[in-house]
Amino acid sequence: MASVLVTGGAGYVGSVCCSELLARGHEVVVVDDLSTGHAAAIPTGAVFHKADIGDRRSIRELLSEHHFDWMFHFAAKALIPESVSNPGSFFDSNVASGIALLEEVRNANITNFVFSSSAAVYGNPRSTAIEEEHPLNPVNAYGESKLILERILRWYAEAYGWTVIAFRYFNASGATSSIGENHRPETHIIPLLLEVAAGEREYFEIFGSDYPTSDGTCVRDYVHVSDIAEAHLCALQARVRGMRVFNIGNGKGHSVREVCEAVEEIVGKQLQTKQGPRRVGDPAVLCASAGRLARELNWYPRITDLRHIIRTAWDWKVQRAKGNGATPEFSLQSRV
Ligand code: UFG
Repeated sequence: MASVLVTGGAGYVGSVCCSELLARGHEVVVVDDLSTGHAAAIPTGAVFHKADIGDRRSIRELLSEHHFDWMFHFAAKALIPESVSNPGSFFDSNVASGIALLEEVRNANITNFVFSSSAAVYGNPRSTAIEEEHPLNPVNAYGESKLILERILRWYAEAYGWTVIAFRYFNASGATSSIGENHRPETHIIPLLLEVAAGEREYFEIFGSDYPTSDGTCVRDYVHVSDIAEAHLCALQARVRGMRVFNIGNGKGHSVREVCEAVEEIVGKQLQTKQGPRRVGDPAVLCASAGRLARELNWYPRITDLRHIIRTAWDWKVQRAKGNGATPEFSLQSRV
């Protein structure tokens, strides 16, 4: 069993990954500053240290108290529109604090590192199924910040003999029975549509209808958060020398309009949508080839159907409303 230090373990993907690690008997210590994550999402059984990853003294103290076999680095700023309007804070959090963290990890002699990167490193793709060797031209500062840390990690792997696995997530989505997407502010398509379904938001705005896609709206590859967590479990068994990057996606693209229709089917009612202008920093199509992850780490997604992914998110939302004592009237809608 491994001892794993997880940054961002109170966040959406990080907390699901912690649950899976604990379920397989691994030891988990979470570092999170709770700036965007939720303490309640940290699974029982994980040890929690509230700290900023850039706070070298706190990280040093923690690393001197425990020995860790692996570092899983999820913590990052991740709102793309904010990265376009305020890139400085993204480079500060994702790159400057990231380097501070790497230096403390190096001083503590941890040599196994998993990095949460993003499909945003590719920018506007030239091909429909993006392979890892595709040119890297981010179109927003979020993607650029992820790419810079990937590049830095390559040097660490080479010079210090680290094993580094960078996962480029496509669109993380869906929920487990206890953890779902809960950002404030929320900017992601599926939780926003479910807010409309639940009567918490008046309408959903479709960003752009003039993209070069079949219906003019952006196409994305939605991959279930549990499948992303499973890839991290595969990393623990991997025999990687140096650094290796892997896409995590289903390899299937769905347009914004298709996602709207799928949500309507799941919640059993029509949702109000409005057509708006393009959002700055959105590539037209992002769709993965995840062949490398299957071939080299034996990873295969288990929840591949978009409607199934949405249903897990909706079930989580309904259960959560019940848990908060609210009357989830929206749970009474018929569903497929
Ligand atoms: N969208 C709308 N209206 C909204 C919100 C989103 O039309 O109110 C559209 C977006 O324009 C985009 C699609 O829905 O075409 C998905 O948008 P999200 O904000 O849900 O996700 P993104 O594709 O922008 O970004 C996500 C992650 C990033 C990651 C990227 C990689 O948040 O971290 O996927 O694919 F880099």
